[in-house]
Amino acid sequence: MTTSTSTSSTSTEGDPMTDATLLAEPAPGLQAAPGRGGGLLVRGLRKRLGGRDVVAGIDLDVAPGELVSLLGPSGCGKTTTLRMVAGFLPVDDGTVAMGGRDVTDTGPERRPSAMVFQNYALWPHMTVTQNVAFPLRTRRVPKQQTAERVRAALELVGLSHHATSKPTAISGGEQQRVALARAVVQEPDVLLLDEPLSNLDAKLRVSVRDEIRRIQQRLGITTVIVTHDQDEALSVSDRIAVMHDGRIEQIAAPAELYARPATEFVASFIGSTSAVGGRFAIGVDSRPGDTVLVRPEQVVLCDDSPLTATVSRVLMRGHFAEVVLRADDDELRAFVSGPPPSVGHAVGVRLGDVLVYREGVLVGGAR
Ligand SMILES: Nc1ncnc2c1ncn2[C@@H]1O[C@H](COP(=O)(O)OP(=O)(O)OP(=O)(O)O)[C@@H](O)[C@H]1O
Ligand SMILES: [Mg+2]
Repeated sequence: MTTSTSTSSTSTEGDPMTDATLLAEPAPGLQAAPGRGGGLLVRGLRKRLGGRDVVAGIDLDVAPGELVSLLGPSGCGKTTTLRMVAGFLPVDDGTVAMGGRDVTDTGPERRPSAMVFQNYALWPHMTVTQNVAFPLRTRRVPKQQTAERVRAALELVGLSHHATSKPTAISGGEQQRVALARAVVQEPDVLLLDEPLSNLDAKLRVSVRDEIRRIQQRLGITTVIVTHDQDEALSVSDRIAVMHDGRIEQIAAPAELYARPATEFVASFIGSTSAVGGRFAIGVDSRPGDTVLVRPEQVVLCDDSPLTATVSRVLMRGHFAEVVLRADDDELRAFVSGPPPSVGHAVGVRLGDVLVYREGVLVGGAR
């Protein structure tokens, strides 16, 4: 089996000429084989920049065909991590393996991966087809095969009708899909996406992210998506790795991450929580100094509870209302479907599962 026919040497991030990576052997259309190239294995990844550990020891296993999101606040090291995985930034320490092969010292164009950068940098003077064909041209893939793969990639992202358009003549969402097509046309084993939806409006974000998930599942590509948007991560991922200060705090399936955030940071970063204190904390199994949090859907309004609070605000959220409840100086938020209570009224409150953190780490909670 041939590996890469590339003759390119150094690589520059964001340059479409060099986003391209290893090509599979010639194939008609695009190859779809779930989990085809094996997974991704990252061990002890470190990077020191500007005198501090920007990436401070990352371990990450992504199974063949799995989609994992790297989620975390701005500056936590997501892009730096992804660039090391893709090979655009040398590691200070640690290893990266793809499909069981150590690629730590392999250049990006020789890794079986393709990366879509946040600034997807399409060539303005080239048509959509020429943009998508670019990585295949630099690899000297035969013309007819290139044409077939490009056609298949454009069909996959729903842009066949724009094959001859210039990037300036299509919308931002369509441009982002061209960048995606330019990555999948390479038939990578590992697809790396850095904030792929960043330039889209709210509605397009949802449709393009669903599209990415559909394509990823259809082709069975092992995928890492970097995002700081929890909704995005929760809705497309098999698992989410929550990053904080250069480390992964927790990696788990979306439902597990939401229900049992392992650290106080993860609890506050994913979904909404209220601090449980004062009267609300009566009956909660915790020690002084612990932090007790509750999700809004675990705050239940009921007539027969001895614990009462006053409705201080009602925020309509569409098919449900967020109700802010006060007791003395303490405040809880509840989700209420159906007609919400009126502001100023006293209501009974019962708490379902709470989350108890001691020194930032989950120690209990279910009641
Ligand atoms: N070349 C560099 N020199 C010094 N510091 C750097 C360099 N590159 C990145 N950093 C710092 O490393 C930290 C992590 O950067 P990184 O781009 O990985 O963050 P991120 O999680 O992707 O954030 P965002 O969500 O804003 O994109 C930041 O504080 C950044 O300022
Ligand atoms: Mg970033």
